Amino acid sequence: MRVLVTGATGLIGSALCAALRARGDTAVPLRRGPRATDAPTWDPPAGHVDLAPAGDLDAVVHLAGATIGRRWTARYRQVLHASRVAATAQLVATLATLPVPPATFIAASASGVYGDRGDELLTEHSALGSGFLATLGRDWEAAATPLAEVGTRLVWARFGVVMAPAGGMLAQLRPLFRLGLGGRLGSGRQYLAWVALDDAVAALLRLLDDSAMAGPFNVVAPEAVTNAEFTRAYAAALRRPAPWAVPAWVLRLAMGEMADELLLGGQRVVPARLQEAGFAWRYPRLATALAAAESST
Ligand SMILES: NC(=O)c1ccc[n+]([C@@H]2O[C@H](COP(=O)([O-])OP(=O)(O)OC[C@H]3O[C@@H](n4cnc5c(N)ncnc54)[C@H](OP(=O)(O)O)[C@@H]3O)[C@@H](O)[C@H]2O)c1
Repeated sequence: MRVLVTGATGLIGSALCAALRARGDTAVPLRRGPRATDAPTWDPPAGHVDLAPAGDLDAVVHLAGATIGRRWTARYRQVLHASRVAATAQLVATLATLPVPPATFIAASASGVYGDRGDELLTEHSALGSGFLATLGRDWEAAATPLAEVGTRLVWARFGVVMAPAGGMLAQLRPLFRLGLGGRLGSGRQYLAWVALDDAVAALLRLLDDSAMAGPFNVVAPEAVTNAEFTRAYAAALRRPAPWAVPAWVLRLAMGEMADELLLGGQRVVPARLQEAGFAWRYPRLATALAAAESST
């Protein structure tokens, strides 16, 4: 299988490219930057997408997007939106004009698309939510839909927070937790949808291979945890105490609305469609996922 991957240098993209190559598939990264003769390139802010050097493609996995983890100033919100919504629209428009469009397009999305929903159990059948992240996610998903008109199978991979040895949330929290400065955020009752990197990649491979799978899929572990449970489990994995509690007002003062959506709010997401498809998680439990991530750092 020949698979174009955007965001190929990222946490999920680099692991996906390695997994594709390990099983004999061809991963073709879509590089950002100026046009090149030997590789497909794109420059989303400039509106440039050149897929000619990519050759015939069986599938695309679209993971690109500016990081959510930086302070959401008005300017940065535009970057988040443009790097997902406008960039997806440009890519999709180019793919739709290929003589043979790819059979499959898997677009990254996030559990944030459901908004902050307390302890409501959320499956792919649940309504989408409100707030900046939910609106961004909804627009990001919608930007891919024109490809359905050319017969491409569309899949949205709604990732939970990816637990990985390098990069992502653990890389940001590890220094604090190692110093014994970890603690729950606000009440600690907000849910965290999470998935181990190995399982996120395995789910993407399954979604690539199984032509019967289409539409949204929650790419999360079967068991969402609360922030307090995560805090205890991560401190235990590092064998450190985490006695602190960061008050909600401190987070709001430091981060504004971002604190409410990213840290104090959450989603209790169930991977109902992956479960129905018989997907087997390597790391269904947080404690083992965290132990595995920490043993490889
Ligand atoms: N990791 C998580 O916990 C998580 C959770 C939910 C959803 N997601 C979503 O899943 C996708 C992949 O996640 P990830 O953790 O692998 O992300 P990541 O490590 O931040 O990588 C994203 C990649 O997107 C590209 N990129 C960065 N800035 C960009 C911009 N301004 N415009 C276009 N492309 C840009 C870069 O790849 P190139 O330099 O190769 O272009 C970057 O390596 C992201 O869209 C993310 O929002 C991730």
